[in-house]
Amino acid sequence: MEESLEKLQYLHAALSEILRIGSPLLVRHPVGWVQRGQGDLVVYIAMGRMESFWGDDAQVFRPERLIDEEGMYRHESPFKFTAFQTGQRICMGKQFARKQMKIFAAVLLRYFRFELSEKSKEINYRTMITLHIN
Ligand code: HEM
Repeated sequence: MEESLEKLQYLHAALSEILRIGSPLLVRHPVGWVQRGQGDLVVYIAMGRMESFWGDDAQVFRPERLIDEEGMYRHESPFKFTAFQTGQRICMGKQFARKQMKIFAAVLLRYFRFELSEKSKEINYRTMITLHIN
């Protein structure tokens, strides 16, 4: 099982690209250096789409940006790929979440074919704390 999941490098990149482009808006709590009652706000969705980090096509869904020359997933610094944060508040379920996403996606893509119910309809986002498809 672990070995099979390890082989799914492109899927890993595609799921990561979803997290990059669709990360939520997140309010963080004081971590020591701010005054009591204050908080810091990290706008992940903006960071995930910054051209200074990700280049001119930052708004484009392109999993290949996270694949290296050998076809392996390219690990980015967590200060650049911020979906799971880093340091003291790093997501404790990061590996678990990644594994679950991979298993579900692999099973769904193996047994189902996905297509839009209304092909001519334009797809837009519904901006919420997480990014929904409208
Ligand atoms: C794609 C799925 C997930 C994403 C994008 C995600 C993202 C994050 C982020 C950004 C934080 C830091 C929050 C902060 O700055 O205060 C965090 C914290 C945390 N996450 Fe996740 N998470 C995911 C799934 C999970 C899962 C499945 C678990 C548990 C099985 C989990 C457990 C935790 C815990 C316990 C913390 C708090 C860590 C701490 O403050 O010490 N997460 N997560």
